[in-house]
Formats: sequence, structure tokens, C-alpha cells
Amino acid sequence: MTNIINDLTKCVSKAFEECGYDKSLGTVSVSDRLDLCQFQCNGAFAGAKQYKKAPFMIADEVAKKLSGNEIFKSVEMVKPGFINITLKDGEIFKKANEIAEDTNLGIPQAEKPETIVLDYGGANVAKPLHIGHLRSAIIGESLKRIARAMGNKVISDVHLGDWGLQIGLVIAELMVRNPDWICFSPDFDPDKHKVDPINVDDLNEIYPFASQKSKVDEAFKEKARAVTAELQSGHKGYIAVWKEIMRVSVKDLKENYGKLYVDFDLWYGESDADKYVDELLDVLNEKGIMHESDGAMVVDVEEETDKAAVPPVIIKKSDNSNIYATTDLATIIQRQKDFAPNRIWYVVDKRQELHFTQVFRCAKKAGIVPEDTELAHLGIGTMNGKDGKPYKTRDGGVMRLSDLLNTVIEAAVEKMSDENFDSAQEKRETAEKVAIAAVKFGDLSNHILKDYIFDIDKFLSFEGKTGTYLIYTVTRINSILRNLGVDDSQPITFNGVYSDIERELLLNIILSGEAFKHALAERAPSAICDNAYRLASLFSTFYHDNHILGETDKDKQSTWISLCILVRRLLLKHLDVLGIKAVERM
Ligand code: ARG
Repeated sequence: MTNIINDLTKCVSKAFEECGYDKSLGTVSVSDRLDLCQFQCNGAFAGAKQYKKAPFMIADEVAKKLSGNEIFKSVEMVKPGFINITLKDGEIFKKANEIAEDTNLGIPQAEKPETIVLDYGGANVAKPLHIGHLRSAIIGESLKRIARAMGNKVISDVHLGDWGLQIGLVIAELMVRNPDWICFSPDFDPDKHKVDPINVDDLNEIYPFASQKSKVDEAFKEKARAVTAELQSGHKGYIAVWKEIMRVSVKDLKENYGKLYVDFDLWYGESDADKYVDELLDVLNEKGIMHESDGAMVVDVEEETDKAAVPPVIIKKSDNSNIYATTDLATIIQRQKDFAPNRIWYVVDKRQELHFTQVFRCAKKAGIVPEDTELAHLGIGTMNGKDGKPYKTRDGGVMRLSDLLNTVIEAAVEKMSDENFDSAQEKRETAEKVAIAAVKFGDLSNHILKDYIFDIDKFLSFEGKTGTYLIYTVTRINSILRNLGVDDSQPITFNGVYSDIERELLLNIILSGEAFKHALAERAPSAICDNAYRLASLFSTFYHDNHILGETDKDKQSTWISLCILVRRLLLKHLDVLGIKAVERM
């Protein structure tokens, strides 16, 4: 599948060369004024300096050279030195036909596929999934799908927080409540005894309780710390109860992520890094970069150019325990061994920036990944309420993900009328998909670093740049095709361009691959949102202006049907990489 921007760049570069200029001046881009022209080349400005000639003179020569080419409707020099390019309609629908035949719908495929480990989700075991982890899940899932759609190999890892103080707190509280549990007895033997089962509701209640208690009860806090340390050094009873906590919690997390259509190849946690810690220490010692500081073992990672202080990264605390940075470094060793990835991306709250700076510098200094492996923290902003502060429950608590989703689902049910559905169940299932579309698009359409305001009414609006509008557009195309009795998988061809709006729509279809390229290069799912919205709104205008069903000119009608089918396929592709599911009707 050729790429229109590359093709045009080649053609214009050749013209520069034939006119005696450097061919690198011939880069073509999409025009930002589609009313004036479709593509433009601004190379004459750079050429002017190089060749000491007015830009318009260079642009004029090159434009004249290009005018002979039959693919162009017009090539014009516009003062002070732009080259404005418009294609013949025949070229445009030829390209659209190529896209219709391409299994990837014109989405560019990596020449050298890369291996990317994507670390997102990051939920903490024993704590219910709350909205603090929502953005990481939504954005990570989308980046995974975008990178895969472009031919790369992506391994997703949820990297659970399953080894820290929160587990110690839960176990300490379980001991207070169930002192007679066999796993807490000195006689406990994992081969002989079965641990007592824990249920998910108890688990969800226990953590906040224990966490609160540790703030007022110093002895309890100490106990929880001690339990954490003993767990990490292999205490049999604690390990057994930890496994039970993991079983219950991971099942619940899987269900919750599943509701968001988020899934992971690897359900590793911080605990899985434990077996790589010794190797980490060996490497750091061999390299001679670890030293003692106030009883702790640290590695210096500051650099001369730092504007703010970057403190040494602590590898072992004075009580010999491992910390967050230790597990992240050990996990890099594991990922390098298992996958030797080109990139490791971490989709994590932007407030953890310093942590990742320290970890990445230490990893490079220690040589646990090759110099050219990209380690990147894709920092994400906060989801805020209408008051501009992090989104909370009405009484100011942390909102559970399941509660948030239920609220949006209820609101979606309210908005849709019963008569569009055969059954209450169909309506409910549709509302679930609409809710996910609304929430995800509301998130992904913002730059990942930016904070945004969670606004149910806006996100669920059938008009404007929303996920709801996008899936609604798909249902409108479904209904057109139903009324025409057309199968959406039938082969399609374009045989002409019959209106200005079609031309604009076709151009946008042809350029959709650029949006994917941009989205991956900039790690910006928002570019996919923008493009999907452009496609949908151009389609709406096209549909409003033309009466497909009543059209008597068969060529015209068949081209328009092709347009419906191709826009539908392309929209579904965009929705798919955003992790949004379409519905048949709504
Ligand atoms: N569990 C962590 C948290 O809740 C997020 C983990 C992110 N991933 C990582 N490799 N550090 O803050």
C-alpha cells in the first residue's frame, strides 16, 4: 500500500532536482487550508537561503515543472513562495479504491516491526480498582492497539502493586479479626493446611479500614510494617494468606478491567521482580556504582544539566527492604531477558516523573538495557470533577471504578428511548457500550498529560466531539445500509466524485493513515479521536446533503454506498484502537 504523502513528496522532490535544487526541499504536507488547495510544499523558503534567490522564483520554476504531470488538477505558486497542489478527482478515488482493497485500510505498517513492552494499569492488590487507575488503563490499552494495528509486537503487563505495605496492612488486620486462622499459627504447614477463604467484599472493606487505623495506631502500623518485611522474606503463613488475597483480588480486577475492554498479556506484579533483585545487586556492585548512604544502599543519578535536584535512587533501605525503585529496576532485567524490547513504556501518573527519571538513569548507568532501548514514562494527567479537583465521590472519598461506570450506564439508559430496542436487555447492553464509549473518548480525546474534567452530560451528548456521537454515526450508517438492503462486507469501488463534500471526505479517508502515524509517533491517541471525529462529521454533512436511497443514477448511488461502507469500516477501525465497541442501533 503506497502512501499519498510519500508519493507526492517523491514527485515534488524530483521536480526540485530537475530544476537544479536540492531534492530534500520537496517535502509535501497536507494543506491546512483545504479551501485553497489539498497539499502544499514550502521547500522554496529553505531553498531561498541556500540558493540566494527569492522563494517565489524557486516555487514558480518547480510549480511549472510539475504542471505537466497529469495527476494534478492544479499546481500553483502563491507568493511569497508556497507551492499549492490539488489532485485530479480520478487520483483521489483511485487511492480510495486502493484503501478499500487493503486489509489494513491504508494504515501504514512498520517496515521494521518493534517490540514494545507496555506497562499500564498498575492496580494495587487488595485495594478496589478506583478511578486513579482509570486513565492509565484506558490510555495504555489504546496505545497497545494503535502500535499493534501498525504491525508492531506489543506485550502488555499490568504490573500489579502486590508486594507493598498495603498487603502488610491487610494481613495485620486479618490477624486481629481472625486470630485463630491456621495460617497465623506457628504450626502452619502449606503442604498440610488449607488457608481460610476470603471474599471480595471483605477484602474491599478491609484495606481502607486498616489504612485509616494505621494513621492513628502506631503499634498497628509497626505490626503491618513487620508483616510486610516477613512476607517479603518468605514467611510461610503470610505467603499463604497473600496468595489467597491475590486470588480474590486478581479475579475482581480482571472482571473490572474486562468491563472496560482492557486486557493484559501478563499479569505480573511487583512480587515477580523479587527473583531478579539479587542479579540487580550484583550488576550494580560489579559496575561499582552502588554505595552506602545513611545505612541505605544507593546509586547516584544526578546529571550536570539537571535544573532541579535528582536525588540518588535507593536500592535497599537501611532495614534491608526493597522499595518501588528496586522492583522497577529488577523488572527491567526480567523484561530485557524475556523480550529484549526496543521500547518499554510506562503509562503512569505524571506525578511519578522523578521516580522514573531515577529508575531509567540507573538502568542505563548499570547497562541492564542497551543504550538504544527507549525507556519512557508516558506521564498522564488527572481526571478532575467540575470543581477542577481530582474526581471524588459525593462525600469526598475515592470513587470506585465500578460505581463510576454504573452511574454513566444509568445516565445512558435514561437518554435512549425504549422504542429503539427489542428488549430491556438489549437496551441495557447497548447502554453499557455507550457508557464505555463516552468515558473512554472523553478521556482519550485530551492530550494524555493534560488534566481534564469528567462531565457525564457532555460525554453522553449525541452531538459534538464525543464517543457517543461517533458510535451513533456508525448506527446511522448501519440503518442506511439496512434500508438499502446492502451487506456491509460486499466489495466496493468508487467510480467518481459527485460533490465537494465527497471530495473532502475521500481526502480525509486517504489521509487517515497519517493520523495513525502521528498517534504512534507522539503517543497520542487523541490524534485518532480527532480523525475519527472529522470522518464522522464530514460523513454527516455528506449524508445530510445527498439522498442516497432515492438516487436514480446508478453509478452515483453505487459510489455513495461504497462511501458509506468504507467510512463505516474506517470508523470501526478507529473505535477499535480506542478500545471502544460499536452497537448495531441506539
Ligand atoms: N502500582 C503503582 C501505583 O499505584 C503503579 C505502577 C506503575 N508501574 C510501574 N512499573 N511502576 O502507583
